[in-house]
Amino acid sequence: MSDAAVREDAPVLEIDPFSTESLLDPLPIDTLIRETAELVWIPAHGVWFTGRHDVIDQVFRDYETFESSAGTGLTNTKRTENWRKPSVILENDPPSHGTYRRVMTSVLSPRVVRRVTEEFQQRADELVDRVLADGPEIDLAPQLAVAYPLQVLPDALGIDPEGRQHLLPYSNLNFQAQGPRNEHFHRAQAAAEEAATWVNWQMRRESLRPGGLGQTIYEFADEATISHDDAAMLVRTFLSAGVDTTIFGIQHTFLALISQPDAWAALHDDPSLARRAFEEGLRWNAPSPFIARTTSRPCVLGGVALQEGEKVVMDLAAANRDPRRWENPDVYDLERDATGHLAFGTGIHGCVGQMMARMEATCLLSALARRVRTIAPAGEPVRIVNNWLRGFESLPARVEVV
Ligand code: HEM
Repeated sequence: MSDAAVREDAPVLEIDPFSTESLLDPLPIDTLIRETAELVWIPAHGVWFTGRHDVIDQVFRDYETFESSAGTGLTNTKRTENWRKPSVILENDPPSHGTYRRVMTSVLSPRVVRRVTEEFQQRADELVDRVLADGPEIDLAPQLAVAYPLQVLPDALGIDPEGRQHLLPYSNLNFQAQGPRNEHFHRAQAAAEEAATWVNWQMRRESLRPGGLGQTIYEFADEATISHDDAAMLVRTFLSAGVDTTIFGIQHTFLALISQPDAWAALHDDPSLARRAFEEGLRWNAPSPFIARTTSRPCVLGGVALQEGEKVVMDLAAANRDPRRWENPDVYDLERDATGHLAFGTGIHGCVGQMMARMEATCLLSALARRVRTIAPAGEPVRIVNNWLRGFESLPARVEVV
């Protein structure tokens, strides 16, 4: 069969994964993308999608064919200017990607994460105590899942406490912008005008508290490993890649746990299960569901011949429920070994902040598990609408404290 014939046979899906309807109810779309074929063409956006675990693994590992420097969203940033300067680590390829990656790996090393754990745990315990003092009805989404990462990560980075209300609109726009220029993007852009200015100001060395991780990044610039402008860009990465992702990962874990009394009872009896609970939460519902790559040369993927410069969107959320990889994939199972889920990506761009995210989530979940004997839903969850993120504005719950 010629390449052209392979391509003509490629399955086409006349859907829009970024319509409001899809974003509010994404699981049927994930299933359709994954089960239709290894690779499907979505004409609404002129891109390929894959929801298969093995195909995604192949794309992540073959970073020479599937590059990041043309953007990891829908826009080919080599052809069309993006809304902001590209990230020097996320939207970059070897060899220069390696330099920035080594800096971030050092700044977020296991030793650094261990050093801040005690402080993070104390903050989690204090927040949980404050929230529970208000009575048995709580909203897990804003009161815990948003409030906690929004405090501890910027504190560790050394960001000014004044003005942190800008972090959410900024991060919201950052992820909206990975998708199409639809109404969700334009609304986010209008809401984040001031936020982008504030973030640009916070990236400067003079704005960062001494002793914080932001200053550590600038020390690499002092040694001339990277430039001072690059250091500012890496500080920005913390704020754009590390806040909402962690918030929404924690929320999905909460959603699973409040719907499963047995799982909560197990966690209450043994709060050290918090880490496992979070990992399975990330598998069950990947908070950052899509990542795109662009082909740097012709290749064949999933039986389809691709030309140079084509976009392939990996549906990580779909792959995390691929029945070819997981047994009973739709079930949140605290007993499951979720190793191999793709919520953090994998390969040379695999999330460099994953140990930090796990530690944050473990501190918060274990703090709540120690104080709360039973927990149950107390109303309908309300989803956020974001092209490139899945999470909640509201997750009402009723708790019985010990
Ligand atoms: C549950 C929380 C998180 C999720 C689900 C998540 C998800 C991801 C994913 C899927 C990637 C791969 C992107 C790609 O292959 O193009 C990634 C990369 C990255 N993440 Fe995270 N992330 C989380 C938390 C964090 C945190 C806390 C930080 C920083 C403190 C962070 C910083 C980064 C950076 C800098 C990269 C780029 C790495 C590279 O390109 O080499 N992330 N993340």
